[in-house]
Amino acid sequence: MLSRTPPMGFNTWNTFGENISDQVIRETADAMVEKGLKDAGYEYLVIDDCWSKRERDPETGKIVPDEIKFPYGMKSVSDYVHSKGLKFGMYSCAGTRTCADYPGSFDHEFLDAETFAEYGVDFLKYDYCNRPHHYYGDLLYRKMGMALKACGREILFSACNWGCDDVHNWIRSTGAHMYRSTGDIIDNFKSMKDIAISQIDNLAYSAPGCFNDIDMLTIGMYGKGNVGSTGSTDTDYKTEFVIWCMYSAPLMLGGDIRTFSEDTLRLVTNKDLIRINQDIEGRPAFETRKDDNMKVFVKHLSDNEIAVAFVNFDERERGVDLYFEDAGIPAASGYGLKMKDVFTGESLGVKKEYLKRTIKPHDCECYLCTLSK
Ligand code: GLA
Repeated sequence: MLSRTPPMGFNTWNTFGENISDQVIRETADAMVEKGLKDAGYEYLVIDDCWSKRERDPETGKIVPDEIKFPYGMKSVSDYVHSKGLKFGMYSCAGTRTCADYPGSFDHEFLDAETFAEYGVDFLKYDYCNRPHHYYGDLLYRKMGMALKACGREILFSACNWGCDDVHNWIRSTGAHMYRSTGDIIDNFKSMKDIAISQIDNLAYSAPGCFNDIDMLTIGMYGKGNVGSTGSTDTDYKTEFVIWCMYSAPLMLGGDIRTFSEDTLRLVTNKDLIRINQDIEGRPAFETRKDDNMKVFVKHLSDNEIAVAFVNFDERERGVDLYFEDAGIPAASGYGLKMKDVFTGESLGVKKEYLKRTIKPHDCECYLCTLSK
C-alpha cells in the first residue's frame, strides 16, 4: 500500500516557482542525498507547475516538456533522480489549464497518466484550477485516480483542491494518497498559524492510505523564493515542524535544500519528530484544552508511546498545563508519563497527574512520552 505513513520529500514550488530546470532538479537530488535527507526518510523529489510548454503537441495530444528548462527531457531527469535512490514526482491539474496557465489534464487524464508512466513518475500532484464547473471535484479526481491505476506504474496520487467542496468527505473514494486541505502557504508565521488552526477540526480525516496535506513546508526559506513573504524565525520554523509532525501531515520540504544550514537540517531530520509523524498507526492528534492561541496536542502512538506538544501561537508568553486525565491517564491508575524533550533529548523523568509549562511567543515544546508507573 502506498502512503502507509505520511509521504516525505521535496517540492519545487515554494522556492523555485516557474524557475525550475534540469540543473535545479539534479542539484536538489544530489543535496537530498549528501545532506542526509534521504536517509532521514525524504524520498520524493517533485517538480511542481511550469515544467511544460504552453500547448500540447498538436499531433500526439501529449503535454510536452519545456525544452529550455529540461533540454534532455523528463525521462532523463527521472533516471537521474532514481539513480540517487530517490523517487520522482510531477504535477498536473484537473482543469483545462494549470494554476500557472500551462496545459491541464482535463479530458486527457488517461493519456497523461500513460505519459507520466513513460517518464518513470512515482508521484503526481494534481491541482484544481480552471476546471469546468459542471464537473464535480470528486469525479475529476476519480478519473485521474482510475487513469493512474490503469497506467501500468505505481504512482502516488497527491490531490490538491485546497479543502474545497467538502473534500474530506469524498477524497478517499478517488484513490488519492494525500490531499491538500488548505490554501497556499506563504513564508510567515501568520500563514502557518492560520493553516494549522484551520485543520484542528479535521485532524481525524487523515489516516494511513490518505493523509491530510497542509502544504509544503517553508522551513529554511527565511523570506526567499517564490512564496517568500516576510520570512519566519527559527522559533517559527521549529513550531511549524512540530505541528506538521503532530498532525501526521506529509513532510514535503519547500525551502532550497541545497543551501540548508546545519540548524535547518537538524530540525527537519529530528528523529523523534519524524518518528511521531511516521507512526505506523497514524492515530490523529487531539486537543486537551480549547484556547485560541495556546494549544496542547496529544497523539497516541504505537508501542505505548504518547507525543505531547505545547504550542504558543500567541504574541506573548503563556502558561499552560496538561492534566494527564485529559489524555486518557487518570491519576488513580498510578500511571504517569516518562517524558523526553525531543529537542534537547533530556528526560523530565516520570511525571504524574499534570505538567505545567511556560512557553515563549511563537514557541513550542514537544515530548515523546512512555506510559510508566
Ligand atoms: C496552486 C497550488 C500550489 C502550486 C501552484 C502552482 O496554487 O495550491 O501548491 O502547485 O498552484 O501553480
